Amino acid sequence: MINLNNVNLQYENTATLALENVNLKIQPKEFVVILGASGCGKTSLLNLIAGFLFTDNGDITINDHQVKGPGLDRGVVFQKNALMPWLNVEENIGFGLKLRGVSKEERTKEITKVLEWVDLTEFRNNYVYELSGGMQQRVGIARALVANPEILLMDEPLGALDAITRQDIQKVVLSLWQKTQKTILMITHSIEEALFMANKLIIMTPRPGKIHKTYDVDFSKQYLEGVDAGEIKRSQKFVNLKNEILEIIEATS
Ligand SMILES: Nc1ncnc2c1ncn2[C@@H]1O[C@H](COP(=O)(O)OP(=O)(O)O)[C@@H](O)[C@H]1O
Ligand SMILES: [Mg+2]
Repeated sequence: MINLNNVNLQYENTATLALENVNLKIQPKEFVVILGASGCGKTSLLNLIAGFLFTDNGDITINDHQVKGPGLDRGVVFQKNALMPWLNVEENIGFGLKLRGVSKEERTKEITKVLEWVDLTEFRNNYVYELSGGMQQRVGIARALVANPEILLMDEPLGALDAITRQDIQKVVLSLWQKTQKTILMITHSIEEALFMANKLIIMTPRPGKIHKTYDVDFSKQYLEGVDAGEIKRSQKFVNLKNEILEIIEATS
C-alpha cells in the first residue's frame, strides 16, 4: 500500500544526495523497521512518506494516491514529542480532534480507546510534566493514533529513553500493533530493537543514503505468541543476526 519508486532526494543547500534510488513496498499490517547509521537518510525517507518533505525525483504513493502532504491516514511520532504542558494527558491526545470539531463525546470515546492501547488509562487527568519520559512518549504515540490512521510512522520514538523503559515500551508497541493491525514504519539505530520489533527489517547505508539489504524476521511474532523477550534476544539466531547486521553497518558507515 505504501509504494516508493526510484525515489531520489537532493538537499540543495548542503549539496547532499540524501536518498538515492530508493524502492520500497510496504504491505498493510506490516511492521517495517529502518535501521542505519546517523545521516543515512532515515528521517528524510520517513518525512517524504509523512508528506512533510517533497521530491520531484521519483514516485511515492499510498493506496495508489500520490503523497501530496500530511494526512489523517498517517500518524507521526518523533523522538521528542511536543506535548503541551498546560494540558493534561487526555487534552493533549484529543487536541487535534478538538481542532477538527469532533464532539466531546466522540473525543472521549476515542481517547479512552488509545489510552488503553498505550496502557495509560489511570493517567488521563495528569499533566504531562507529572509523567516519566517513557509515559510521555506513550502519550505521543496515543496522540498519533487517536484519529485512527491506517499508518503509524515513528522516527526513533524510543531513542531518548533509558534501556529498561525502552524495552517496556517496545512490548507496548508490539502489543498495540497486534491489537490494532496498523501498518507501522519505525526508525531506530538500535540493532537489537530493530530485530526484536520488525517483521521486515531494512538496512540503510549512507553517502548517498540507500537501501542496502532487507530481512524478513519473526522475533516479534514469537514474542506475541508468548515466548519470553529475554529468551528471544539471547537465542543463537538472534545473536547471529545481530552480529551480521553490526558487521554490515560497520563496513558501510
Ligand atoms: N534540511 C536539510 N537540509 C540539508 N541537508 C539535510 C537536511 N536534512 C538532512 N540533511 C542531510 O541529509 C542526510 C540524511 O539526513 P537524515 O535523513 O536526517 O538522516 P538520518 O535520519 O538517517 O540520520 C545527512 O547528510 C544530512 O546532513
Ligand atoms: Mg534521523
